[in-house]
Amino acid sequence: MKDTLPVDEKYRIHMTKYFQEYEASIKSTENFWKEKARIIDWFEPFSRVLDDSKKPFYRWFVNGKTNMSYNCLDRYINNEKRNKVAYIWIPEHGEEKVITYFGLYRRVNALAKALLNLGVKKGDGVTIYLPMILEAPIAMLACARIGAVFNVVFSGFGEEALAQRIDDSGSRTIITADGAYRKGKTVHLKKIVDAAIDLSRGVDNVIVVKNTKENIKMESGRDYYYDDIIEDSYVKPEELDSSDPLFILYTSGTTGKPKGIVHGNGGYPVWVANTMKWAFNPGEEDRWWCAADIGWITGHSYIVFAPLLLGVTSIMYEGAIDYPKPDRMWEIVERYGVNMLYTSPTAIRLLMKYGEKYPLMHDLSSLRVLGTVGEPINPAAWHWFYEEIGKSRCPIIDTYWQTETGGFTIAPSMALGMPDLKPGSATFPMPGIMPEILREDGTPAKSGEKGYIVLDRPWPGLMLTVNNDDKRYVDVYFSKYPGKYLMGDYAIKDEDDYYWLLGRSDEVLKVSGHRIGTIEIEDGLVSMKEVAEAAVFGKPDTVKGDTIIAFVTLKEGYEKSSELIDSLKKRMRTELGPIMVPEEIHIVDALPKTRSGKIMRRVIKAVYLNQVTGDVSTLENEASVEEIQRAMDIIRKGTGN
Ligand code: WTA
Repeated sequence: MKDTLPVDEKYRIHMTKYFQEYEASIKSTENFWKEKARIIDWFEPFSRVLDDSKKPFYRWFVNGKTNMSYNCLDRYINNEKRNKVAYIWIPEHGEEKVITYFGLYRRVNALAKALLNLGVKKGDGVTIYLPMILEAPIAMLACARIGAVFNVVFSGFGEEALAQRIDDSGSRTIITADGAYRKGKTVHLKKIVDAAIDLSRGVDNVIVVKNTKENIKMESGRDYYYDDIIEDSYVKPEELDSSDPLFILYTSGTTGKPKGIVHGNGGYPVWVANTMKWAFNPGEEDRWWCAADIGWITGHSYIVFAPLLLGVTSIMYEGAIDYPKPDRMWEIVERYGVNMLYTSPTAIRLLMKYGEKYPLMHDLSSLRVLGTVGEPINPAAWHWFYEEIGKSRCPIIDTYWQTETGGFTIAPSMALGMPDLKPGSATFPMPGIMPEILREDGTPAKSGEKGYIVLDRPWPGLMLTVNNDDKRYVDVYFSKYPGKYLMGDYAIKDEDDYYWLLGRSDEVLKVSGHRIGTIEIEDGLVSMKEVAEAAVFGKPDTVKGDTIIAFVTLKEGYEKSSELIDSLKKRMRTELGPIMVPEEIHIVDALPKTRSGKIMRRVIKAVYLNQVTGDVSTLENEASVEEIQRAMDIIRKGTGN
């Protein structure tokens, strides 16, 4: 057994508890999870911990009945948490709002009642397109309460991206706002929703929160102001099955449309609550700030669900971390006495660029624990965060995970025993997670050798499936190495058994921590009337991780011009959203292709980045060296390099 365990003998001393729990999770999985599932309340107990008879469609806590909204709210309203602050909400400008667990409970019930009155029922899809305002968690919890399957769409996505998600999730109801504030400007969300509905198969209800209070068009019989329809009342939480879907969240892959990742009502809450406890171990008095957006999985799991399941007080911040001034984040830490700050390497690198001056303006002594997520953290950013922000007192919890895993998979554990940290390593697996590093041919990589990271066992936070596409779930995640979950990242396990994540092994980009599929941007570009073909890739960026670079060819009759490039960018912004706009668009005469017609994206990227060295045959499996040389000439000619 020993060689399947992640830690060596020498860590037994200061990580005893971790080691015991980990061992228990692997050796006596059933008992382990039976015990850990008590972190939530069950209306009806589960009859089995894990059903793996239809693997890889694993079903956890079989026949258990529960409800996320009940577990986040109802169980606290008659005890000492009733008046505890759930969220301190900080707007981009203006006064903060404080909401207690009881207050949140009342508001969730009021919206749940409104949804029922509109005819929304268990199993129905609801799209939530909201900025970072309190109505976002309220909407998620109201849907969870009645068993409606919600689909949060990041408010930085445009009309086409929104329409696609409305249709794929089968939503007939949208919860949105008139507008949103972004760095002092107003984004007209309702206009985007109207345009998206026109592109979609249509919806029955649009619920609009008055946020910016701007004038908007309301369609009678379809659009309702939130304030006009909420109704103070009690709505009994639906008794949902563990495997009933809780939400769908779209994420990018390398092929096809974005995948609707489906998480359920049983395994997911058990996983997010336990992982937050293990990794960060928040105390009753702590103030937790996860500075992500609710439109991504980090916001779902660690702004909304895990903190509420654990009864934690959270900061929720509407605005940008460097607006109006570069000290905004530090000002919030000081003013609200934040104890635990969880953010991304991109944010750290951005704030680091502004200089030490800004954190030095504030008293950051309330901080006790720091955390990061979203990308590998480079040692320079790690040291800055550790030294300038944490004053070398606060451990950095580097959490490695993804939308599909529901919660952390590899992270140091405050609760079970901290390993000595190595800057840039996410350290050891959470209990229940069994990572392996494999070579291309599936044999195990040696210590220090780069390979694909896979997880050998199911865990409760694993998604249920890909919405409307069971086949894709199997093909994307369980077929490269049959039976093992493919995370899509490269990693190394070092001589001390620490894991180091090295970035994506596929063509998914990480732009400011946001996961973006090159294919979505290519699809967006080729849907423009002028564009014939497109190839998109990432250029390494010292702050953002990647920036988006596009190469396109034009259809007959269109001429290359800087106006055309600007116009393409503008339309990309409207259709897909500001985060999806390429930084550079290069118009070229031809894009090099393999014999089977595949665009040689990696060759284009290597030429563009000036990374062509020695053996070019490794760049493209399907092409000969001569073809690659010819391809490089085409690109060089096109860009004038
Ligand atoms: C990357 C975000 C290195 C990785 C929670 C993963 C990380 C993808 C880390 C998932 C980390 C996330 N170190 N890489 N600590 N955390 N990643 O679905 O490439 O938006 O596969 O989930 O982010 O992105 P997603």
